[in-house]
Amino acid sequence: MITHPAYTVDPWSLHERGLQLDMLAQSESVFALSNGHIGWRGNLDEGEPHGLPGSYLNGVHELRPLPYAEAGYGYPESGQSVINVTNGKIIRLLVDDEPFDLRYGTLRSHERTLDLRSGLLHRVCEWTSPSGRTVRVRSTRLVAFSERAIAAIRFEVEAVDAEVRLVVQSELVANEALPQGSGDPRATSAITAPLVAEEDFAAGMRLRLVHTTERSRLRVAAAADHLVEGPAETQTSSESDADVSRLTVTSQVAPGQSLRLTKFVSYGWSAERSLPSVRDQVDAALAGARSTGWEQLLAQQRSYLDDFWEHADVEVDGDPQIQQAVRFGLFHALQAGARGEGRAIPAKGLTGSGYDGHCFWDTEAFVLPVLTYTHPEAVADVLRWRQNTLPAARDRALQLGLRGATFPWRTVTGSECSAYWPAGTAAFHINADVADAVTTYVSATGDEDFARDTGVEILVETARLWSSLGQTDADGTFHIDGVTGPDEYSALVDDNVFTNLMARSNLRTAVAAVQRYPEQAAALGVSAEETTAWRLAADRTHIPYNADLDVHEQHAGFTRHEKWDFAETRADQYPLLLHYPYFDLYRKQVVKQADLVLAMYKCGDLFSDQEKRRNFAYYEALTVRDSSLSACCQAIMAAEVGHVDLAYAYLGEAALMDLDDLENNTRDGLHIASLAGSWLALVAGFGGMRQKGATLTFAPRLPGQLSRLAFKVQTRGRCLRVEIDSSAVTYTLTSGEPLGIVHDGTQLTVSTTRSPRMPLVAPAPEPAPEQPEGRRPAQRP
Ligand code: BGC
Repeated sequence: MITHPAYTVDPWSLHERGLQLDMLAQSESVFALSNGHIGWRGNLDEGEPHGLPGSYLNGVHELRPLPYAEAGYGYPESGQSVINVTNGKIIRLLVDDEPFDLRYGTLRSHERTLDLRSGLLHRVCEWTSPSGRTVRVRSTRLVAFSERAIAAIRFEVEAVDAEVRLVVQSELVANEALPQGSGDPRATSAITAPLVAEEDFAAGMRLRLVHTTERSRLRVAAAADHLVEGPAETQTSSESDADVSRLTVTSQVAPGQSLRLTKFVSYGWSAERSLPSVRDQVDAALAGARSTGWEQLLAQQRSYLDDFWEHADVEVDGDPQIQQAVRFGLFHALQAGARGEGRAIPAKGLTGSGYDGHCFWDTEAFVLPVLTYTHPEAVADVLRWRQNTLPAARDRALQLGLRGATFPWRTVTGSECSAYWPAGTAAFHINADVADAVTTYVSATGDEDFARDTGVEILVETARLWSSLGQTDADGTFHIDGVTGPDEYSALVDDNVFTNLMARSNLRTAVAAVQRYPEQAAALGVSAEETTAWRLAADRTHIPYNADLDVHEQHAGFTRHEKWDFAETRADQYPLLLHYPYFDLYRKQVVKQADLVLAMYKCGDLFSDQEKRRNFAYYEALTVRDSSLSACCQAIMAAEVGHVDLAYAYLGEAALMDLDDLENNTRDGLHIASLAGSWLALVAGFGGMRQKGATLTFAPRLPGQLSRLAFKVQTRGRCLRVEIDSSAVTYTLTSGEPLGIVHDGTQLTVSTTRSPRMPLVAPAPEPAPEQPEGRRPAQRP
């Protein structure tokens, strides 16, 4: 869509000119506002037309039975789906006797802007009703970073050429009708009318609705309060029933005059607390927001983001689209995690109901590695959420006959919600991904309290899982059989290299954590025999290699399989999962998403440079990128092995995944991991940044199209700025004690007074690898 003339390319905002009804659902996703606790899709104020109405509260879900044609032991019986909670965004308008509905009358102008620095969504439009009355409508919306339970809207209507009577209805609406599902397995299983009314209230300017979910028994409250400014005779009234609570404002407005409504909305939910307590919570939050006031909420929003960008901005010279996209991606990654506080980050953040609002490995493998260096507080919170879900993960391990903990492949609250074993629980690598996120966070921040109170428990329980899941053969080699790696076009395989290497590192970091925190380890019952077993398993983990082809095997036997017939596969048959049976995908060499290539990034020290080059070329020819998680990984490794232009093309794909709706499902919500991945492609790809123990290392490169790339990372209480131009790299410390880093193998010390400038060494040119026919990434213009 960003290539659509309606969208402009701007370094700090996303701007739409005119209302593009055919892209409404996509625009609602890209214009979504969230603070990680509340999520509001960018639906129009008046509610209709809409693509997908969406208001979400992180963690609020309904249970639904998971049907199986043939049941089996240990299959999860109950699924969880995010629900559309009470909509506090709705502000309807009647102009004289006609509803303000942009499908009727004449829309003279319509503009929406998401401002990435102020965190506001602005809308301004001019509309002439079918009977010829023209009004100018302005709205500004925010979901507050500073006050977690609060969202707010300022809505203003101005009469343009004649006096009009305006009726504004500001509402809270529960159980909105949702459009029929698309049938795409990646979308949501829509639950109609999930909220059972408990209490409704309207008095003066205040509204409140309290509901509970039928099966998950969550109590959800939304409340609103208003300020109304308008001509002298402006009148207000309010009323409420079970699912709609409404303030009505009536006013006679002369040309040049306007009616202005400021709406504060608060949300709260709980599985435990009583009705009076949740009611009081939303009322209290609302009172707080009223006392803060609109202007101050705006100022706090700006200041929160100023602080974020001050420590996290990425500057890209030479490609304005990428500049915009990377900031857009960072903004949404921040929105997804900022105030989650003890909740997950779903694959779509809180921007849509795709994937049922589930959290996958996307969070730990893609989003947290970005937030670790840009907003580390959020990372500790998400990982504490994982820690809080350990009881469910331990139960799951027990059910499966394993030790330690088995984190769910997809979940809202911590229990397994994947009804499909091969691309569900069998993707055991998620456990090592969680452990890796713990280790990276601790290495990057030096947060000892977290390492002791949270890290060690996660590392120990996941190490226990690996040592019980794997088996040692007669030769003493450790194998992990019957698992699914990141590539979901291979399933239930033996010795997936990614899984094995990540498990190996998990086992080793667990041993180190146990040594460092013996008291915590003792409390977890870790014995000396246990750690010896972990060490041995790690030292003897099998890593399959095909010596004839001179490449690693994605898993044992992978390279023996027949290759997928790419020449016979038409462009419209991708993604393959929607057009071919899994049985055929599973037995051929075809890779849905980076798997071995991701292993070479996450566990890079375990591959030689030559191996990386050969492996990259081999898997490049098999990888179809049917998952949005692939392009950024391929960008990182393409940059490392010297295919800088290819890396640049993959960066474009990761960065524009939603702005260009590349997978045709942005309507269901944003691909938060891919958006975060555009940062990874720039920083880990072109910056070559890796975390090695406590040290950051860099191996910078710059594609010819870019004249400059600069980024900031937070590490160990400091903020490091890296600036790469066509001839050199400059490292600057904007705050904190001197920092040791490594540039292209050379140790450097950066301090606030010493900013080393190192020459940029271009990688030796390599023959470009081939991609499957028709799956070459688009070249950047
Ligand atoms: C990918 C998974 C990913 C999930 C959610 C799937 O298509 O294969 O790796 O976790 O989408 O983004």
